[in-house]
Amino acid sequence: MSLFESRRGRRVMICVRGQCAPPEKGRNIETLLLELIARHGLDNPDHPQHATCTITNCLAVCEDGPILIVHPEGVKYHRVDETALRRIFEEHILGGQPVESLRAPNSFKRPLFL
Ligand code: FES
Repeated sequence: MSLFESRRGRRVMICVRGQCAPPEKGRNIETLLLELIARHGLDNPDHPQHATCTITNCLAVCEDGPILIVHPEGVKYHRVDETALRRIFEEHILGGQPVESLRAPNSFKRPLFL
């Protein structure tokens, strides 16, 4: 069991390193996602679909950003603009079904944490 699987709910991490997309785009996505999480009450730890959102330094895709990852499934999404984020929120975070058409390709451009 991974660290992320051991926690309840979903954890979303958004890259703001700046290589995959300008950092402000990632921060704008974070702001919108936090609004959606709060509006739907998912910030309540007792909510069955509890969700959190944080920024991170890289998700090893490094192009076609902003990049975000949804745990515990570990699904990475690319080119996440406002429209894409709303789909990810509705279909994956609320609905439990990853949005296949928005998934980042499974190629890693560089190792994590470098
Ligand atoms: S710089 Fe954003 S995924 Fe690496």
